[in-house]
Amino acid sequence: MDLSDIDLERVPKHVAAVMDGNGRWATRRGLKRTDGHAAGEEALFDAVHGALELGVEWFTVYAFSTENWKRSADEVRYLMNFNESLLLRRSQELHDLGVRIRFIGRHNWRVPKRIIARQNESIELTRDNRRLTFTIAFNYGGRAEIVDAMKAMVADGVAPDDITEKKLRRYFYDPEMPDVDLVIRTSGEFRLSNWLIWEIAYSELVFTETLWPDFRRQNLADAVAEFQRRERRFGGVLEG
Ligand code: IPE
Ligand code: IPE
Ligand code: MG
Repeated sequence: MDLSDIDLERVPKHVAAVMDGNGRWATRRGLKRTDGHAAGEEALFDAVHGALELGVEWFTVYAFSTENWKRSADEVRYLMNFNESLLLRRSQELHDLGVRIRFIGRHNWRVPKRIIARQNESIELTRDNRRLTFTIAFNYGGRAEIVDAMKAMVADGVAPDDITEKKLRRYFYDPEMPDVDLVIRTSGEFRLSNWLIWEIAYSELVFTETLWPDFRRQNLADAVAEFQRRERRFGGVLEG
């Protein structure tokens, strides 16, 4: 990986990727859409290695959205089995790399119990790792997250006057997850598709034409270099 463009002192702490374009990647090759999902696995693990090399602390990926249930039963079934098998086959490898695995998403709705069980095993196995927190968004929707947080907060009896941004945040799927610094979306789509709506309020957005199965750690490094060329102001004015 070429890091010559990168200031390792200013690497984004939290990078969140929308892994898009698997279907198009496969269709262009005369393959089934699901072959594109399978090909995305190598991209994902290469990106994790890139995040480790760069020193990114939080890497979050969009694996299945609350809207992806609209797809054909065959594709949904494939994605469920694929995500389960990926956890079974590769959790140990992530553990050996010092990666802490976490999940965000609506767990009590539609997701097969056996997948939740695999997820819990991966969380348990890797819970003490600190090199990188790798969060898989599964059955995730940014709006669903806000609604679920509101429900939990109301159930806790929080009074209206006590509601603050900070308090609401404590009811999100992972209260420890920091705001996102850099969002990457592949496949040339310029939209967010319900991705981390709250957490990306001040993120830098980098869009690339690369289809997810072709994404490699160098693409991650390029996005970080682009991030470093931006000037983040958070509504303020930079001095000097
Ligand atoms: C992203 O690739 C993977 C998931 C949404 C699960 P797509 O399957 O959306 O691929 P395209 O966008 O149809 O090419
Ligand atoms: C976003 O991609 C969801 C994931 C990558 C899991 P989609 O392919 O579902 O988004 P749209 O339909 O193009 O907005
Ligand atoms: Mg897509």
